Amino acid sequence: MTQDELKSAVADAALREIEPWLDKDTVLGIGTGSTANLFIDRLAKHKGDFKGAVASSKASAERLERHGIEVFPLNSVGTVPFYIDGADEVTARLHMIKGGGAALTQEKVVAACAERFICIADGSKYVAQLGAFPLPIEVIPMARSYVARELVKLGADPVYREGVITDNGNQIIDCFDFMIEDPLAMEVQLNNIVGVVTNGLFAARGADVLLLGKEDGVERTA
Ligand code: 5RP
Repeated sequence: MTQDELKSAVADAALREIEPWLDKDTVLGIGTGSTANLFIDRLAKHKGDFKGAVASSKASAERLERHGIEVFPLNSVGTVPFYIDGADEVTARLHMIKGGGAALTQEKVVAACAERFICIADGSKYVAQLGAFPLPIEVIPMARSYVARELVKLGADPVYREGVITDNGNQIIDCFDFMIEDPLAMEVQLNNIVGVVTNGLFAARGADVLLLGKEDGVERTA
């Protein structure tokens, strides 16, 4: 199977997972990226069965609206029963690296407001230890060099993601050569660097359910 076919399989599985819970009051939290896009496209066929969605990026909001799904501001919704999103890396403990699409801050905020986080990923995203994928850090622009120097002290090789401005008007530093031994502790440590808006470790609020696309089918871990 191709990677796209595996992503399609987990998007189908996520729809099956939430379908029984949809009703006219349901507002879903929706992530960002190619796997989330496949899920959005499937959701379109069910748009009459739920109220709408909160999106974690402008790109996802636009895609939802193109399908005729109403997008609500998170502040008007409060909590969402489900947040469905992809990941760049995910472990057996359902810790993740996210932010390859630069949407990490809003993804983390919507995930924080979700009763259940359903991670949908093809098998290539499954790792024993986080960090082979460069960890994204969103920084306010004037703090970029300072944050980069602090990241070097922690052992990372920080690289400015040139030409990328996040939906919040900030910049992204990607941390290369930075294997994460303790995701929970490192998430806190990175948050404590002044000028960091968000780091791409999703450990304190990891996923509740992982739907992993593999050659022999979708594996569910909860
Ligand atoms: C965007 C993300 C995505 O979830 C992550 O990059 C995975 O993307 P894809 O589904 O395209 O592989 O965190 O900021």
